[in-house]
Amino acid sequence: MLKAEGIHKSYNGLNVLKGIDLSIKESEVVSIVGSSGAGKSTLLHILGTLDKPDKGGVYFGDKEVSSLSQKRLSQFRNEQIGFIFQFHNLFPEFTAIENVCIPAYIRGVKGAEKRATELLKILGLLDRKDHKPSELSGGEQQRVSVARALINDPSIVFADEPSGNLDSQSADDLHNLFFDLRNKMGQTFVIVTHNMELAGMADRKLEIKDGIITS
Ligand SMILES: Nc1ncnc2c1ncn2[C@@H]1O[C@H](COP(=O)(O)OP(=O)(O)O)[C@@H](O)[C@H]1O
Ligand SMILES: [Mg+2]
Repeated sequence: MLKAEGIHKSYNGLNVLKGIDLSIKESEVVSIVGSSGAGKSTLLHILGTLDKPDKGGVYFGDKEVSSLSQKRLSQFRNEQIGFIFQFHNLFPEFTAIENVCIPAYIRGVKGAEKRATELLKILGLLDRKDHKPSELSGGEQQRVSVARALINDPSIVFADEPSGNLDSQSADDLHNLFFDLRNKMGQTFVIVTHNMELAGMADRKLEIKDGIITS
């Protein structure tokens, strides 16, 4: 489903990524580990089309994303890619269900509220749907951001240290949720994590070291 070839990226002379090759199959859960500063977030942003490599290509199917115009790329990202970040990045002034619906409103499809309600139900948040983020626990906020990532039925979800800010019980619940979604819906996930338990549960664990994937 996703392939990256020869990805290089430097910042001000610092070579962060020095030739990353990888491929992700449909319905895989792949973890990416590596020490702080190893380039995990940089790689995830490039795979998720939020950033461009200096050299190399990112392919979804046989489409190389740099061949898309800025407008087509934003549309592609909105429709095909979901993101979950360490800090949930929910809009504080909107309720849980409104936050979940935002990518669907941007896409302009009908029935966002119905799908959002279904997702919140699956994620055990139905009774929290009209709460603002500040009225939710950290684990609940992060589950809302999972629902938001899934609202447009993306082909792939990228998560950057999604449980980095959660207590261990909420982290375990979130990790189990990822595998549930994969097992029940076939959802593909690429997850950057420092959590070795999560990394170990994945179908494959990739390690970034010295700018390349070492395992
Ligand atoms: N926008 C940027 N400008 C300059 N340096 C950056 C930028 N983004 C990341 N870096 C640097 O690239 C390296 C890798 O960063 P990052 O991908 O965030 O690592 P990780 O997520 O593995 O901790 C770090 O040394 C970081 O300081
Ligand atoms: Mg990072």
